[in-house]
Amino acid sequence: EKGGFASFMDKEIHDQPAAVADTLRGRLDAQGRLKLDEGVVDEYVLKSIDKIIVIACGTASYAGLAARYAIEHWTRIPVEVELAHEFRYRDPIVSVKTLVVAISQSGETMDTIMAVRHAQQQGATVIGIVNAQGSTIAREADAVLYTRAGPEIAVASTKAFVSQITAGFLLGIYLAELRGNKFPDEIDALLSELDAIPAKIQRVLDTAAPIREVAASMANERTVLFLGRHVGFPIALEGALKLKELAYIHAEGFAAGELKHGPIALVEQDQPVFVIVPSPRGRESLHSKVLSNVQEVRARGARTLVIAEEGDTVAAQHADEIFYVPAAPVLMTPLLCVVPLQIFALELAAAKGYDVDQPRNLAKSVTVE
Ligand code: F6R
Repeated sequence: EKGGFASFMDKEIHDQPAAVADTLRGRLDAQGRLKLDEGVVDEYVLKSIDKIIVIACGTASYAGLAARYAIEHWTRIPVEVELAHEFRYRDPIVSVKTLVVAISQSGETMDTIMAVRHAQQQGATVIGIVNAQGSTIAREADAVLYTRAGPEIAVASTKAFVSQITAGFLLGIYLAELRGNKFPDEIDALLSELDAIPAKIQRVLDTAAPIREVAASMANERTVLFLGRHVGFPIALEGALKLKELAYIHAEGFAAGELKHGPIALVEQDQPVFVIVPSPRGRESLHSKVLSNVQEVRARGARTLVIAEEGDTVAAQHADEIFYVPAAPVLMTPLLCVVPLQIFALELAAAKGYDVDQPRNLAKSVTVE
C-alpha cells in the first residue's frame, strides 16, 4: 500500500501532483461558478462579507497563510489567519459579515472545531476546507470545499497541505468572480495557470536527487534556519515545522526581512540557512532584497541552501547549494517551493534512522484541546 515507496510520507509527497489535480477537477458549474461539495452559502452573504478569517492549526494554518496573498489580491477582501486555539480567547471581532474558513485535513482537530462553533455563535458563515469526508468540521460548517488529497496516513502533512492551498485559491477565484473583481477571461487565465501546477510539482519530484543527497549528509546538524519573504514566508515556517516533526532538529522559519531585526545574531560558521528566493520575474525589488539576505548570512559563515526559479543564475551565484523549481505565477509558487523542503525533512529524518511516518509524541489528529 506504500506503492513501492519506503514510507507513506514518501508516497504522499509523490501523490501531490494528483492531489492538486483532483482538488481542481470538476469544480465549476455551467456558469463557471465554484461548486461547494456540501451545504449552500447564499451568494448574497458572500457578496456582503467584509472580512475573511482563516482558522486552523499547524500545517493547515500555514496553508491558510500561503493562500491569503492570493485571496486578498484577487478579492480585495481582508484576510486574517488565526491559530484556532488562539482565536476564541482574544474576543475576536466576528459578525454576520465575516466569512470564517476552517482548514483541516482530519476535520477532527478539537481546537479548530471549538473555534468553528465560537464563530457560528457570533453569526459568522463557516466554510470548511476539509480532507476527511463526513468529519466533524465537514458536518458542522455551513458548506464544505473538500480537498481531494485521499487518505493521508503519515503523521506529517504533505499532500493535504498543497491541496488546502489549492482549495484556498479556488475559493479566492470564486469570491473574486462573484463580487465582480475579475472578468471571465482573467478567471480562465488563473484556472489554466493552476491546471499547469501538477505537472510542475511532478518536475520538482523528478529532479529531487540533489536535495535528497544534501539532506542525507546533514544528519548531524543541530539547527537549521529557513528564510522566506512574501509567499515564501509561510513556506519557511512549514519547512521548519517539517524538520522539527520528523528529524527532531531545532528549526526556525523567519520572514527574511526580519533577519536584521534579530535572528541574524544566530548565524555562525557553517549554520545551514535555507532561503526561498522569489522569482526575478515578480517584483524585482523582492528578488534583490532576498538575495541581499542570502549574502548577509553567507558573509557571516552560513551555508546557504537556496530554492529558486529555474534559470535564476543570479541566485545561483550566492548559493552553496541551489534547488530549482519551475516558473509559475508568484502567488502559486508555494505549491512548488514546499516540495524540496518536505523531501529534505524526510531524507534527513531517514538518515537519522527515524520512523518518518510516526514521529515521536505526535498523533495524526489532535482530538483534545
Ligand atoms: C504537521 C501536521 C499538523 C496538522 C495540524 C492540523 O505536519 O500534521 O500540524 O497540520 O495538527 O491538523 P488538521 O489539518 O487535521 O486539522
